[in-house]
Amino acid sequence: MTQEYRVLLEHADKINPESAADYIQVGGYKGLEKAHSMNPRDLTDEVKKSGLRGRGGAGFNAGMKWSFVPQYPETKYVVCNFDEGEPGTYKDRIICQKNAQALLEGMAICGHAIGSNNGYIYCRGEYPFVVEMLKNAIGNAKESGALGEFNIEVRMGAGAYVCGEETALIESIEGHRGEPRFKPPFPGVEGLWRMPTVVNNVETFACLPYIMTNGADWFAGIGAKSYPGTKVLTLTGDIENPTYFEVPTDYLLRDVIYELGGGVKGGKKLKAVQVGGTSGAFIPPQNLDTPIDFDSMGAIGAALGSGAVFVMDESRDIVDIINRIAKFFEHESCGQCTPCREGTFRCKEIMERINTGRGSLKDIENLKVLARIMQKASLCGLGQAAPIPITSTLEHFEYEYLRKLV
Ligand SMILES: Cc1cc2nc3c(=O)[nH]c(=O)nc-3n(C[C@H](O)[C@H](O)[C@H](O)COP(=O)(O)O)c2cc1C
Ligand code: SF4
Repeated sequence: MTQEYRVLLEHADKINPESAADYIQVGGYKGLEKAHSMNPRDLTDEVKKSGLRGRGGAGFNAGMKWSFVPQYPETKYVVCNFDEGEPGTYKDRIICQKNAQALLEGMAICGHAIGSNNGYIYCRGEYPFVVEMLKNAIGNAKESGALGEFNIEVRMGAGAYVCGEETALIESIEGHRGEPRFKPPFPGVEGLWRMPTVVNNVETFACLPYIMTNGADWFAGIGAKSYPGTKVLTLTGDIENPTYFEVPTDYLLRDVIYELGGGVKGGKKLKAVQVGGTSGAFIPPQNLDTPIDFDSMGAIGAALGSGAVFVMDESRDIVDIINRIAKFFEHESCGQCTPCREGTFRCKEIMERINTGRGSLKDIENLKVLARIMQKASLCGLGQAAPIPITSTLEHFEYEYLRKLV
């Protein structure tokens, strides 16, 4: 029987997440103590050795990212990406609400590794209630002395999906319009206020205290070898048990849906699963026996992304869903680069036509051409990933498009 394996959420609802004292009682802040006893290079190597990869979507090795930060100059920043704008994703909110102190401790561990006492948490604009809680948690940790010299400020977004992209997020913290920057330079070299900056996801930071306390080998031994540790998933859509779970990364998607999630709602047949949020691929039932880790998902043309799992039963109209997704991307494109600005607009236009029974085979051909251009030529991940739901459904569910044509 597939069960959860809780590390980050082990003490969920048993401790007050705002209280450093509660967290210390269950072993909290020992990881930071250990980090402080190490020199920054050894600490970075330990994190590298653990195999921890980013939980925000790109899956980059965390220790490797930190190692790119130059030792000088003095001013550097640790930025936590808590934008969580991906529809269907709320795992970072759960981690904050259940274990905020682990996030703060993780940021301070990173601060010691790169030589920074300046932390920022960039919080999704729609989470004002979590901001208050985070501020209390920070105040409590500072008062208790648990964070030492490390300081953390909270900044709020204003509801733009693109501000989850790390350089747009940095622009937004600086008070500018949230538009992605050209990369390189990457934030590790030139980030917040053009100073070296590490941007990591909430879940990535929250893993660090446990890696430091239990050792890199312990973490590397959990779940999939190439993407070790646990993953907090959120299940939404036509599922019996629509909630969150923490599982080792080698769990099969089938087990997540049928064992933990209780199966498709009302005992209906499964049509598709979208993993990783709005820009994720649609996975057909024949691919359910895939482990949910980053590389296994990639091997079937999907992405683990943020860990959102959206379940669709047999009655769902795939073309209608894609039409809604196309509208979302057209609305959220920042408009800075032509392939995405024009591409998302044209995709929306074509999808609307097909969905209302006015489309033609030529429209489907044009969607495929547009998708190729957007994936290759867009400046940031939004435009590059926006066509993935379209291409994956054209691959697995083309018949749904064809039956809506004139
Ligand atoms: C359009 C877009 C939205 C994104 N939204 C988020 C987000 O809400 N949270 C997040 O952690 N990463 C998000 N990312 C990924 C970040 O750019 C970045 O890779 C991540 O914060 C790095 O942290 P990690 O290495 O710990 O995953 C987004 C990327 C793009 C292109
Ligand atoms: S890809 Fe889209 S969201 Fe990203 S910079 Fe270009 S227009 Fe903006």
